[in-house]
Amino acid sequence: MPIQLTMCRLCTRSRPEFLCAVAELVASYPSEIDVVELECMAACDDVPAIMVETDYYPQVVPQDLIRLVRECLQLSTS
Ligand code: FES
Repeated sequence: MPIQLTMCRLCTRSRPEFLCAVAELVASYPSEIDVVELECMAACDDVPAIMVETDYYPQVVPQDLIRLVRECLQLSTS
């Protein structure tokens, strides 16, 4: 079952490096990540913020995004 990565469409639209990291993850793990884009995830003061499954992470830089998702994927397979 894929892990769910939730992010705000509006806040990430102006962050190409963040969107590139998401695209890289989806390309690397096409059937293991389900990306959910919300119009607002009520994290406007913490952008870019994400949720990986039910865990919330504020002010995530692309390197943190990749690390968090990879860690979650490893946990879900172990
Ligand atoms: S508009 Fe992006 S979190 Fe609110």
